[in-house]
Amino acid sequence: MALVTTTEMFRKAYSGGYAIGAFNVNNMEIVQGITEAAGELKSPLILQVSAGARKYANHTYLMKLVEAALIENDIPIALHLDHGGDFEICKSCIDGGFSSVMIDGSSHSFEDNIALSKKVVEYAHAKGVVVEGELGQLAGVEDDVKISAEDAKYTHPDQVEEFVSRTGVDSLAIAIGTSHGAFKFKPGHNPMLRFDILDEIAKRLPNYPIVLHGSSSVSPEYVKIIQENGGRLADAIGIPEDMLRQAAKSAVCKINIDTDLRLAMTAGVREVLYQKPEVFDPREYLKIGRANIKTLVAHKIVNVLGSDGKA
Ligand code: G3H
Ligand code: 13P
Ligand code: ZN
Repeated sequence: MALVTTTEMFRKAYSGGYAIGAFNVNNMEIVQGITEAAGELKSPLILQVSAGARKYANHTYLMKLVEAALIENDIPIALHLDHGGDFEICKSCIDGGFSSVMIDGSSHSFEDNIALSKKVVEYAHAKGVVVEGELGQLAGVEDDVKISAEDAKYTHPDQVEEFVSRTGVDSLAIAIGTSHGAFKFKPGHNPMLRFDILDEIAKRLPNYPIVLHGSSSVSPEYVKIIQENGGRLADAIGIPEDMLRQAAKSAVCKINIDTDLRLAMTAGVREVLYQKPEVFDPREYLKIGRANIKTLVAHKIVNVLGSDGKA
């Protein structure tokens, strides 16, 4: 099967009350772990690549890994640029074969975000590629830029209709309290998402796909393995799975997950290297990391996203 855009995926997810997982990929083992889980569960899938991933692994290597995954798994897969920071990187991914890009103009003024997003949409749509925009700002770390919880800005529902109609973006990422990275809430504070803002946005944009970034749950199981095997991750806290399940049943059609993949891979690699210091064959530890990723993604698809059997 060739790469698909997210249009059909989101239409079905919206009406079916589930969401599509968008998982960040950087290397072969991550691509394999994610796509084997989705393939076996017959789940549609979004693989996403950040600017950092592209710099690390190289555009062509990532394209070829995703092409291999399409040959090995009979499911619809979209390849998406995560957090495109400017027109040039979006253009490069569109020209280079991606089926979807995000233009993240959320750090700009409302008017500048509109102008930039509109420019990307015009270029992308002419080539059959879809575009995700963002309004509001998440807390957390993104491409080495850290935004504190105090500086994060929830999306204003009264801006969304104008933003979507003036830019033509196909989906919209919003800020309702999720954040990037492994430290989303302070210990002792109850995790909280602003479902009231999500509901208000959904009312103003009927049948329109909403995206949640920063949606890892930071499984205590993997944090424990990392801590017990020489890692340091005290006070890592993520978004409770029941909140994500609730979001997946609403207008939220795409849920972004990267940190949980990093934790699953790191837990596997650390466990082997710490417990068996004599191991030096990379396959011995990478295969445990890859297996953890497959287990994690299968769990997300069935218990959080609800996208199993929807391919
Ligand atoms: O939202 C950001 C993603 O987790 C990608 O992170 O820029 O370190 O690859 P990265
Ligand atoms: P997490 O850091 O919660 O996994 O979020 C990833 C993300 O939003 C990628 O765009
Ligand atoms: Zn993100």
